[in-house]
Amino acid sequence: MKAWPYPRIVAHRGGGALAPENTLAAIDVGAKYGHTMIEFDAKLAQGGEIFLLHDDTLNRTSNGWGVAGELPWEKLERLDAGDWYGAEFKGEKLPLLSQVAERCARHNMMANIEIKPTTGLDEKTGTDVALAARELWKNQAVPPLLSSFEFDALVAAKKAAPELPRGLLIDSWHENWKALTDELECASLHLNHKLLNEERVKAIKAAGLHILVYTVNNPARARELLGWGVDCICTDKIDVIGPDFV
Ligand code: G3P
Ligand code: MG
Repeated sequence: MKAWPYPRIVAHRGGGALAPENTLAAIDVGAKYGHTMIEFDAKLAQGGEIFLLHDDTLNRTSNGWGVAGELPWEKLERLDAGDWYGAEFKGEKLPLLSQVAERCARHNMMANIEIKPTTGLDEKTGTDVALAARELWKNQAVPPLLSSFEFDALVAAKKAAPELPRGLLIDSWHENWKALTDELECASLHLNHKLLNEERVKAIKAAGLHILVYTVNNPARARELLGWGVDCICTDKIDVIGPDFV
Protein backbone atom coordinates (compact mmCIF):
# COMPACT_ATOMS: atom_id res chain seq x y z
CA MET A 1 0.00 0.00 0.00
CA LYS A 2 1.29 3.47 -0.89
CA ALA A 3 2.14 6.00 1.83
CA TRP A 4 -0.94 7.75 3.17
CA PRO A 5 -0.23 10.83 5.29
CA TYR A 6 -3.74 12.28 5.07
CA PRO A 7 -6.17 12.82 7.97
CA ARG A 8 -9.57 11.15 8.43
CA ILE A 9 -11.61 14.28 7.87
CA VAL A 10 -11.39 16.59 4.84
CA ALA A 11 -13.25 19.90 4.51
CA HIS A 12 -15.17 19.85 1.20
CA ARG A 13 -14.52 22.83 -1.11
CA GLY A 14 -12.48 24.52 1.62
CA GLY A 15 -15.04 25.44 4.22
CA GLY A 16 -17.87 23.00 3.55
CA ALA A 17 -21.27 24.62 3.94
CA LEU A 18 -19.97 27.46 6.09
CA ALA A 19 -18.38 29.66 3.42
CA PRO A 20 -18.54 30.34 -0.32
CA GLU A 21 -17.02 27.23 -1.88
CA ASN A 22 -13.55 27.20 -3.43
CA THR A 23 -12.45 30.60 -2.09
CA LEU A 24 -9.61 31.74 0.14
CA ALA A 25 -12.22 32.73 2.73
CA ALA A 26 -13.45 29.12 2.70
CA ILE A 27 -9.94 27.88 3.43
CA ASP A 28 -9.73 30.30 6.35
CA VAL A 29 -13.05 29.00 7.69
CA GLY A 30 -11.83 25.41 7.35
CA ALA A 31 -8.72 26.36 9.30
CA LYS A 32 -10.78 28.17 11.94
CA TYR A 33 -12.58 24.90 12.65
CA GLY A 34 -9.24 23.14 13.01
CA HIS A 35 -9.29 21.18 9.77
CA THR A 36 -5.94 19.95 8.54
CA MET A 37 -6.96 19.04 5.00
CA ILE A 38 -9.24 20.57 2.40
CA GLU A 39 -10.60 19.47 -0.96
CA PHE A 40 -11.16 21.96 -3.79
CA ASP A 41 -11.84 21.99 -7.54
CA ALA A 42 -9.32 23.33 -10.07
CA LYS A 43 -9.69 24.24 -13.75
CA LEU A 44 -8.08 26.38 -16.47
CA ALA A 45 -8.89 29.90 -17.59
CA GLN A 46 -8.72 30.61 -21.33
CA GLY A 47 -5.04 31.54 -21.08
CA GLY A 48 -4.11 28.51 -18.98
CA GLU A 49 -4.16 30.10 -15.50
CA ILE A 50 -5.30 27.55 -12.92
CA PHE A 51 -8.05 28.70 -10.58
CA LEU A 52 -10.76 27.27 -8.36
CA LEU A 53 -14.34 26.71 -9.50
CA HIS A 54 -16.63 23.71 -9.24
CA ASP A 55 -19.02 24.19 -12.17
CA ASP A 56 -18.22 24.64 -15.85
CA THR A 57 -20.07 27.95 -15.70
CA LEU A 58 -19.79 30.95 -13.44
CA ASN A 59 -23.53 31.27 -12.97
CA ARG A 60 -24.08 29.59 -9.60
CA THR A 61 -21.11 30.75 -7.56
CA SER A 62 -20.14 34.17 -8.85
CA ASN A 63 -21.62 37.31 -10.34
CA GLY A 64 -20.31 36.23 -13.75
CA TRP A 65 -22.06 34.31 -16.49
CA GLY A 66 -21.11 31.66 -19.02
CA VAL A 67 -18.38 29.06 -19.36
CA ALA A 68 -15.49 30.11 -17.10
CA GLY A 69 -12.84 28.31 -19.16
CA GLU A 70 -13.67 30.41 -22.20
CA LEU A 71 -12.82 33.67 -20.43
CA PRO A 72 -9.42 35.29 -19.89
CA TRP A 73 -8.13 35.49 -16.32
CA GLU A 74 -8.25 39.31 -16.56
CA LYS A 75 -12.05 39.03 -16.65
CA LEU A 76 -12.36 36.19 -14.14
CA GLU A 77 -10.24 37.91 -11.52
CA ARG A 78 -12.65 40.86 -11.39
CA LEU A 79 -15.66 38.72 -10.46
CA ASP A 80 -17.19 38.42 -7.02
CA ALA A 81 -17.26 34.83 -5.76
CA GLY A 82 -18.58 35.54 -2.26
CA ASP A 83 -21.66 37.73 -2.45
CA TRP A 84 -23.88 34.92 -3.81
CA TYR A 85 -23.29 33.09 -0.53
CA GLY A 86 -23.67 36.00 1.87
CA ALA A 87 -23.08 39.73 2.10
CA GLU A 88 -20.27 39.22 4.65
CA PHE A 89 -18.25 37.51 1.91
CA LYS A 90 -18.77 40.25 -0.69
CA GLY A 91 -15.51 41.06 -2.46
CA GLU A 92 -14.18 37.48 -2.26
CA LYS A 93 -12.46 36.53 -5.52
CA LEU A 94 -11.98 33.38 -7.57
CA PRO A 95 -8.55 32.26 -6.32
CA LEU A 96 -5.60 31.13 -8.38
CA LEU A 97 -4.10 27.76 -7.46
CA SER A 98 -0.90 29.60 -6.48
CA GLN A 99 -2.82 31.68 -3.92
CA VAL A 100 -4.49 28.55 -2.61
CA ALA A 101 -1.14 26.81 -2.18
CA GLU A 102 0.14 29.78 -0.18
CA ARG A 103 -2.96 29.86 2.00
CA CYS A 104 -2.75 26.12 2.67
CA ALA A 105 0.90 26.51 3.64
CA ARG A 106 0.04 29.41 5.94
CA HIS A 107 -2.53 27.24 7.75
CA ASN A 108 -0.35 24.14 7.56
CA MET A 109 -3.12 22.35 5.69
CA MET A 110 -2.92 19.41 3.32
CA ALA A 111 -4.72 19.51 0.01
CA ASN A 112 -6.84 17.29 -2.21
CA ILE A 113 -6.81 19.00 -5.60
CA GLU A 114 -9.76 17.78 -7.63
CA ILE A 115 -8.95 18.29 -11.30
CA LYS A 116 -12.25 19.55 -12.70
CA PRO A 117 -11.64 20.19 -16.41
CA THR A 118 -13.86 22.39 -18.51
CA THR A 119 -15.57 20.03 -20.98
CA GLY A 120 -13.09 18.95 -23.64
CA LEU A 121 -9.94 19.97 -21.74
CA ASP A 122 -9.33 16.83 -19.70
CA GLU A 123 -5.80 16.09 -20.82
CA LYS A 124 -4.46 19.64 -20.76
CA THR A 125 -6.01 20.32 -17.36
CA GLY A 126 -4.54 17.11 -15.93
CA THR A 127 -1.08 17.97 -17.22
CA ASP A 128 -1.11 21.62 -16.20
CA VAL A 129 -2.55 21.06 -12.73
CA ALA A 130 -0.09 18.26 -11.97
CA LEU A 131 2.92 20.33 -13.09
CA ALA A 132 1.73 23.36 -11.14
CA ALA A 133 0.99 21.29 -8.04
CA ARG A 134 4.47 19.78 -8.12
CA GLU A 135 6.02 23.25 -8.21
CA LEU A 136 3.68 24.99 -5.76
CA TRP A 137 3.86 22.26 -3.11
CA LYS A 138 7.58 21.47 -3.53
CA ASN A 139 8.48 22.83 -0.08
CA GLN A 140 5.63 21.12 1.74
CA ALA A 141 6.16 17.95 3.74
CA VAL A 142 3.01 16.32 2.34
CA PRO A 143 2.25 16.28 -1.38
CA PRO A 144 -1.20 17.27 -2.59
CA LEU A 145 -3.50 14.38 -3.44
CA LEU A 146 -4.74 14.74 -7.03
CA SER A 147 -8.15 13.38 -7.95
CA SER A 148 -10.57 13.52 -10.83
CA PHE A 149 -13.72 11.95 -12.25
CA GLU A 150 -11.99 12.24 -15.64
CA PHE A 151 -9.82 9.22 -16.36
CA ASP A 152 -7.90 11.03 -19.11
CA ALA A 153 -7.07 13.91 -16.78
CA LEU A 154 -5.48 11.46 -14.36
CA VAL A 155 -3.59 9.68 -17.15
CA ALA A 156 -2.13 13.07 -18.07
CA ALA A 157 -1.36 13.92 -14.42
CA LYS A 158 0.44 10.61 -14.01
CA LYS A 159 2.54 11.28 -17.07
CA ALA A 160 3.38 14.86 -16.00
CA ALA A 161 4.08 14.30 -12.30
CA PRO A 162 4.06 10.58 -11.56
CA GLU A 163 5.28 11.11 -7.98
CA LEU A 164 2.10 12.93 -6.92
CA PRO A 165 -0.51 10.58 -5.45
CA ARG A 166 -3.67 10.07 -7.48
CA GLY A 167 -7.23 9.09 -6.61
CA LEU A 168 -9.90 8.13 -9.13
CA LEU A 169 -13.32 9.63 -8.37
CA ILE A 170 -16.46 7.64 -9.13
CA ASP A 171 -20.08 8.63 -8.69
CA SER A 172 -21.57 5.38 -9.94
CA TRP A 173 -20.31 1.87 -9.32
CA HIS A 174 -17.79 0.60 -11.90
CA GLU A 175 -17.16 -3.13 -11.77
CA ASN A 176 -13.77 -2.42 -13.36
CA TRP A 177 -12.60 -0.07 -10.57
CA LYS A 178 -9.54 -2.25 -10.01
CA ALA A 179 -8.36 -2.20 -13.63
CA LEU A 180 -8.87 1.58 -13.81
CA THR A 181 -6.99 2.33 -10.59
CA ASP A 182 -4.23 -0.13 -11.53
CA GLU A 183 -3.69 1.63 -14.83
CA LEU A 184 -3.51 5.00 -13.10
CA GLU A 185 -1.36 3.59 -10.26
CA CYS A 186 -3.73 5.20 -7.82
CA ALA A 187 -3.13 5.58 -4.11
CA SER A 188 -6.85 5.83 -3.52
CA LEU A 189 -10.37 5.42 -4.81
CA HIS A 190 -12.74 8.34 -4.10
CA LEU A 191 -16.41 7.43 -4.08
CA ASN A 192 -19.84 8.78 -3.44
CA HIS A 193 -20.40 7.18 -0.02
CA LYS A 194 -23.78 5.84 -1.19
CA LEU A 195 -21.93 3.34 -3.40
CA LEU A 196 -20.29 1.66 -0.44
CA ASN A 197 -21.13 -1.23 1.78
CA GLU A 198 -18.79 -3.09 4.10
CA GLU A 199 -18.03 -5.77 1.51
CA ARG A 200 -16.97 -3.23 -1.10
CA VAL A 201 -14.79 -1.41 1.42
CA LYS A 202 -13.05 -4.69 2.22
CA ALA A 203 -12.47 -5.47 -1.46
CA ILE A 204 -11.06 -2.02 -2.23
CA LYS A 205 -8.78 -2.09 0.80
CA ALA A 206 -7.64 -5.62 -0.06
CA ALA A 207 -6.54 -4.27 -3.44
CA GLY A 208 -4.15 -1.93 -1.61
CA LEU A 209 -6.13 1.26 -2.13
CA HIS A 210 -7.09 3.91 0.39
CA ILE A 211 -10.67 5.15 0.34
CA LEU A 212 -12.00 8.71 0.43
CA VAL A 213 -15.76 9.21 0.47
CA TYR A 214 -17.83 12.28 -0.34
CA THR A 215 -19.95 14.07 0.73
CA VAL A 216 -20.80 12.71 4.18
CA ASN A 217 -22.80 15.11 6.32
CA ASN A 218 -24.43 12.68 8.73
CA PRO A 219 -22.21 11.90 11.75
CA ALA A 220 -23.71 8.42 12.24
CA ARG A 221 -22.97 7.55 8.60
CA ALA A 222 -19.44 8.96 8.93
CA ARG A 223 -18.88 6.77 11.97
CA GLU A 224 -20.18 3.71 10.13
CA LEU A 225 -17.90 4.33 7.13
CA LEU A 226 -14.84 4.87 9.33
CA GLY A 227 -15.75 1.69 11.19
CA TRP A 228 -15.68 -0.25 7.92
CA GLY A 229 -12.17 1.02 7.27
CA VAL A 230 -12.76 4.08 5.08
CA ASP A 231 -9.72 6.35 5.36
CA CYS A 232 -11.11 9.82 4.64
CA ILE A 233 -14.47 11.48 5.01
CA CYS A 234 -15.02 14.58 2.88
CA THR A 235 -17.72 16.71 4.51
CA ASP A 236 -19.71 19.92 4.21
CA LYS A 237 -20.57 19.76 7.92
CA ILE A 238 -17.17 20.94 8.96
CA ASP A 239 -18.38 22.11 12.37
CA VAL A 240 -20.01 18.78 13.31
CA ILE A 241 -17.66 16.34 11.59
CA GLY A 242 -14.55 18.13 12.75
CA PRO A 243 -10.88 17.19 12.73
CA ASP A 244 -11.23 15.28 16.04
CA PHE A 245 -14.30 13.36 14.95
CA VAL A 246 -14.35 9.76 16.14
O1 G3P B 1 -13.69 15.27 -4.44
C1 G3P B 1 -14.85 14.96 -3.75
C2 G3P B 1 -16.04 15.73 -4.26
O2 G3P B 1 -15.73 17.09 -4.28
C3 G3P B 1 -16.49 15.30 -5.62
O3 G3P B 1 -17.69 15.89 -6.01
O4 G3P B 1 -19.03 17.49 -7.27
O5 G3P B 1 -18.32 18.04 -4.96
O6 G3P B 1 -16.66 18.04 -6.80
P1 G3P B 1 -17.92 17.43 -6.28
MG1 MG C 1 -14.84 18.45 -5.67
